[in-house]
Amino acid sequence: PKQGRPISIAGYRTAARRVLPDLVWAYVENGADDSVTLAANRSAFARWSLRQRVLRSSAGRKTAARFGDTELAIPVMIAPTGINGLVHWRGELATACGAAAAGSRIVLSTAASYSVEEVAAASPVGHWLQVYPWRDRELMDWLLERGRRSDCPTLVVTVDTPVFGNREPERLQGMSIPPVLTPRHVLDAALHPRWAYKVLRHQRVFTGNLVGMSGVRAGALAAKVRRERMMAGELDWDDFARVRAQWQGLCYVKGILDADDAERAVSLGADGIIVSNHGGRQLDGAPATLDALPGIADRLAHRATVLIDGGIRRGTDVVKALCLGADGCLIGRPALYGLAVGGESGVEHVLSILREEIDRTLALMGCSDIADLGRDWLIPG
Ligand code: FNR
Repeated sequence: PKQGRPISIAGYRTAARRVLPDLVWAYVENGADDSVTLAANRSAFARWSLRQRVLRSSAGRKTAARFGDTELAIPVMIAPTGINGLVHWRGELATACGAAAAGSRIVLSTAASYSVEEVAAASPVGHWLQVYPWRDRELMDWLLERGRRSDCPTLVVTVDTPVFGNREPERLQGMSIPPVLTPRHVLDAALHPRWAYKVLRHQRVFTGNLVGMSGVRAGALAAKVRRERMMAGELDWDDFARVRAQWQGLCYVKGILDADDAERAVSLGADGIIVSNHGGRQLDGAPATLDALPGIADRLAHRATVLIDGGIRRGTDVVKALCLGADGCLIGRPALYGLAVGGESGVEHVLSILREEIDRTLALMGCSDIADLGRDWLIPG
């Protein structure tokens, strides 16, 4: 099966489109409103050129990185994405194992198909856990305690989701929790038998972290979110501070695009910032993450780890982000493309493609260590 494998993330994207039914593709791929920010995340990378220095031996090139106390073979982790069980029947178990095999890690979404415990049992390395700063103390206690017992070294608090973003193609497809299945979905599934046979048989789609383990059904959870106004735009910095105080380990804030917000997060105890616009899925018209990065990195001046996600599809993108002040990157959709096409080995392959691309880029630039990258390696325009 290794023959005929895609050789780039773009190739994995094309192959994933073929494997996945329209409903799942709409969930994975789309941005909010008119997808302006989604496109901007990509185009921002093209506005920077890499400096090429020649005949400077770069033998023994180094691509290893350390985010907090997490050691990685490449400066790339996998961003939290919900319900991976919709993309592949082994869902986050495969994502986590594929990442581990490539010397990386996943951030496990609160909305995962598989629970923190299941992922911890399946994967040889620990994963980070993503939560929202919800006010429901009991729910947060329960989630954080499970993260602690599963040895998650780092908590990621996503702060760019006060309400759900407006992803219209997904809404038009009837994507909701629980999903509303129509005859069109059944037909769609029948046209993608490879996907349907496993995913529908295992039915692990919505029974992960929040439902299942607590005995709460998906429908009941949706009602709880509505009743308790968890997604009604009412969260504030006190909510973050409370979650921070409940967690003893390292804590990152994800979804920062503004230097003042980055400063605030660090002053409230964040150890790291993830510059992110949720892959263009929340505020359409928000800046590209690469454009927001330098101002944030300058302001924090190494007082906290700075990671970035959004639109990273090539090793050169990773290198440009590192030059502009990031300590590392996360990938969201590329991991899902790999997962859809090849399960665990697809995820591993996507990461190893990136590792090879980073290594080759360093060699072509004449740079031997990612730690040496900085703004002097970039040319604007
Ligand atoms: C996401 N993202 C996300 N973020 C988060 O904090 N919790 C979540 O549950 C999810 N779920 C989710 C599902 C899907 C299908 C996507 C594509 C994204 C956002 C994600 O962590 C990350 O910020 C972006 O995906 C990064 O952009 P790229 O790499 O997809 O361009």
